Amino acid sequence: MTSTMPSPAPTTAFMATPAAEPSAPLSALPAILGTYKRQAPLFVRGDGVYLFDEHGKQYLDLVAGIAVTSLGHNDPGVMNAMQEAMATGLIHTSNLYRTAPGEALAQWFVDHSFASSVFFANSGAEANEGAFKFARRWGGTQGVPNKHHILAVRGSFHGRMPGTLAATDRPAYRLPFRPLMGGVTIVERDLEALAAAMHPEKTAAVIVEPIQGEGGVRVVDPAFLRGLRALTRERNVLLILDEIQCGLGRTGSVFAYEQLGFEPDLLTMAKPLANGLPIGAILVNDAVARTMQPGDHGTTFGGGPLLAHVAHHVVQRLSDPALLQHVRETGAWFGEQLQGIADRTGQVRAIRGTGLMWGMDVHEPAAAIIGRAFEKGLLLVSAGEHTLRFLPPLVITKAELAAGLAMLEAAMHS
Ligand SMILES: Cc1ncc(COP(=O)(O)O)c(C=O)c1O
Repeated sequence: MTSTMPSPAPTTAFMATPAAEPSAPLSALPAILGTYKRQAPLFVRGDGVYLFDEHGKQYLDLVAGIAVTSLGHNDPGVMNAMQEAMATGLIHTSNLYRTAPGEALAQWFVDHSFASSVFFANSGAEANEGAFKFARRWGGTQGVPNKHHILAVRGSFHGRMPGTLAATDRPAYRLPFRPLMGGVTIVERDLEALAAAMHPEKTAAVIVEPIQGEGGVRVVDPAFLRGLRALTRERNVLLILDEIQCGLGRTGSVFAYEQLGFEPDLLTMAKPLANGLPIGAILVNDAVARTMQPGDHGTTFGGGPLLAHVAHHVVQRLSDPALLQHVRETGAWFGEQLQGIADRTGQVRAIRGTGLMWGMDVHEPAAAIIGRAFEKGLLLVSAGEHTLRFLPPLVITKAELAAGLAMLEAAMHS
């Protein structure tokens, strides 16, 4: 509420410590808490690779809800899976009871990955928090009293909850919320540094993203990852791969680890798992699964029948060899086109990526280009102040991408 009463002139006699400046001007507050700077238009409809605002303006979506809507918007198969699930009248039962969709989805992962068992969560951060707990539970069974430490690496992003934030290398996200969860250390992305920090009697797990998404789309060196796998085995430490952003087809294989030639002990996923419905998963190997007992972890909503039925449809679609081939081919072509833009504009410092996950370091603040692209009807997201990130739906065609590239280049010139 603003007051129209003139404030009395301050008299020096009564001037005490000045009141602290409010951190935001006293204007009307948005009904949704102001933790995001949202673009102004109101989106009312989605179809394929496009979103539409309330005035009917079309936007080409190269963000896909931050690597979530991999099958695009209004996909008939996803919509049908939702209708099928709704026709049962069963949205939720809690994890006190068995339901068929969750069991079928878990079995799909057991059949198609290294995992012996799966835990369903509701988001990426929750999947990683759970993975930390599972690693600590396992650590407690290794015959030493304090095997609970977690290591993460430079450039990481694992989520915004107290445990995952402690493993996230973003000072601006971390500092206002200290103290974060203890027993987590961020180490240089370097085998020597990790070897020095990793103690067989104290370290339970190392967590790493095969491609660091929020950290600037950095494809982590496969040789480093293989070395890390060997080191963790040698030291009896678990390796957690966070494939929340890069998993489920985005790099051109179902799981990014398939291209690395080794298996992790735990793997977390979320974003595209139900093409926009909130679900996460923790895949665990036999050794970890055997240490978990009823009561060790829980969630009210995780893996409910509606979400699991849709996710089961989505994982079958995202593992289609033809789609994965499309991601590899289209992605390689897209990377070449970005290089062309770099050569023509002279405004690009570096390009990194694989599959349909690319980053472009630009001289200008990324936000300026994103704003101009938005005006032209192109949705882009950043990954750091000077990095544009491209996470299109995996079903996007070359023609649709070409239209986006033309808008991007125009936005970089203006
Ligand atoms: C690699 C990675 N891990 C974890 C998360 C956290 O996921 P969520 O936002 O669903 O909590 C993200 C989100 O961007 C991510 O990219």
